[in-house]
Amino acid sequence: PTRPVINAQKVNALLGKTALGLIEKVAEEAQKQTLGVYLVGGIVRDLLLERANHDIDFVVEGDAIAFAEHMQATYGGSVHSYAPFGTAKWHLDADTAEALGIANGKLPDHIDFASARNEYYLHPTALPTVYSGSIKLDLGRRDFTINTLAIQISPAAHMWRIVDYFSGLDDLKAGLIRVLHSLSFVDDPTRILRAVRFSERLNFKIEDRTAELITNALPMLRRITGERVRNELNLLWQEAAPESGIYTLAKMGALAAIHPAFKAPSHLGKLFKRLRARDLHQESDAYWHILLSHLPNEDITAIGERLLFGKPLITAIQATHTILYELPVLKENSPKPSRVVAVLGAMPAFSLEIAALFAEEPMSTTIRTYMDSWQNVRPKADGNTLKAMGLSTGPIYSQILLQLKNAWLDGEINSQAEEERFLETLVKEARDHDSS
Ligand code: CTP
Repeated sequence: PTRPVINAQKVNALLGKTALGLIEKVAEEAQKQTLGVYLVGGIVRDLLLERANHDIDFVVEGDAIAFAEHMQATYGGSVHSYAPFGTAKWHLDADTAEALGIANGKLPDHIDFASARNEYYLHPTALPTVYSGSIKLDLGRRDFTINTLAIQISPAAHMWRIVDYFSGLDDLKAGLIRVLHSLSFVDDPTRILRAVRFSERLNFKIEDRTAELITNALPMLRRITGERVRNELNLLWQEAAPESGIYTLAKMGALAAIHPAFKAPSHLGKLFKRLRARDLHQESDAYWHILLSHLPNEDITAIGERLLFGKPLITAIQATHTILYELPVLKENSPKPSRVVAVLGAMPAFSLEIAALFAEEPMSTTIRTYMDSWQNVRPKADGNTLKAMGLSTGPIYSQILLQLKNAWLDGEINSQAEEERFLETLVKEARDHDSS
C-alpha cells in the first residue's frame, strides 16, 4: 500500500519553505535512528487535495515522547508531553528556528508527535485506553478513509511515500466520506458531526453505507458530553457556510438527537450571512444566539444546560429572544424613545448587537438608535442638584431624574435652561405633594 509518492516541491508549494524545512529536519533525525515516522491526519489529506493546512502531526513507530525530547535537546524549544497517550507537543521558538537553520519563514507554534497506537475502547463514548502499535493499527482506528492517509518520512528509503492502507486515495478522488468499519460511530458518536463538517468543507458526499450507519447511531449522540458536542459544533462555525452543515444535521435528525428541542430556525442561512458580513462571525457565541434565540426560554435553558453553556450565555440568549420576540414597542414605527429605553435598559450589550443584526425593520433601526444614542442620554442634574434645591432624599430622587431623562429622550426639553425650568416644576410638585 505504499507505492505512490508526493514530492518535496509540492510540499514546498503548498506548505512553504519553513514547513518543508521542519519536516526534513524531523526526517533527518528520525532517519539517524531508523525510526518509522509518518506525517498523518488532516495535513496529508489536504496536501493531496492541494489545500493549505499548517497543523503538522507526526506518528512515530516507537516512543514519540523520547523522540520529541531528542528534537528539543538538539534544536531547543520546549516539549509538553502526555504520557498516558504517548503524545508530545514540541513548541518552537526563534532560537529553535535558528538552530534548525530555517529562521526566515513563519514558524508554526508547535509540532505534534504521537506514538503509533491501537486504541482499545473500554466502553462506547469513554476515553480510549492506549496500547502501542504500528502505523497500520494507528491509522486503522481513525474516523474516515480520507483521514487514514500518511506520508512516510523515515527510514530514508521510504521518504515521501504515501501510505494508503484503507483506500483513502480512491475516496479522496471520488469525494467520499467513508468510515473504516461499521462500529465507527458507536466507538465515537462525535464522528457523526465530523462527517458532516468534512462533507461541507470539502464538498464531499457521505457514502451511502456510512450515511446508514449514521442514522443507526444517532441515539448515541444523547450520550456524548455537552462539552464535546459544543466543541464540535464550534468547529463548524469555522467553515465557509456552516448553515448548510446545520441544515444537514437537522435533516438527518442529529440536532434532535442531541436534544429533542434543538431545531434550526428557518432563516438560518440569511442570519449567518449577515454575521459574516459584520465580522461578528469570530464570536462563536453569536452562532448560538442565532441557533437558539428563536426557541422559547425553557428550551434555551434546556439546550444550554445540555451543551454545558455557562449561565451568562444562557441568560444572554434568552435576552436576545426577549428583544426579538417579546417587546411589542420595538415593532412600532417611531416609538417614543423613553419607552424603548425602559425595556432595553437592562439588556446585555452583546444581545442588543445580535438582535439589531437579526431584526427586520423598523426594529433593527430602533435597537441601533438605542445603542448609538438613547442609552447614553443623561440629564445634567443629578442627586446633588436635587439636594442643593433642598429636596429631602428618598425614592422621589430617582423618579425625578427618570422624568428628566425621559423628557430629554422624547424631545420635551432640548437645552440646559429648559431642563432647569422643568426641574423646578418637578421639584415644586414634589414639595407640594409632600406638604399636602
Ligand atoms: N480522529 C478520529 N475521531 C475523532 C477525532 C479525530 O478518528 N473523533 C482522527 C482523524 O482521523 C483525524 C485525526 O484524528 O485525522 C486528527 O484529528 P483532527 O485534528 O480533529 O482532524 P483533522 O483531520 O486534522 O481535521 P482539521 O482539518 O479540521 O484540523
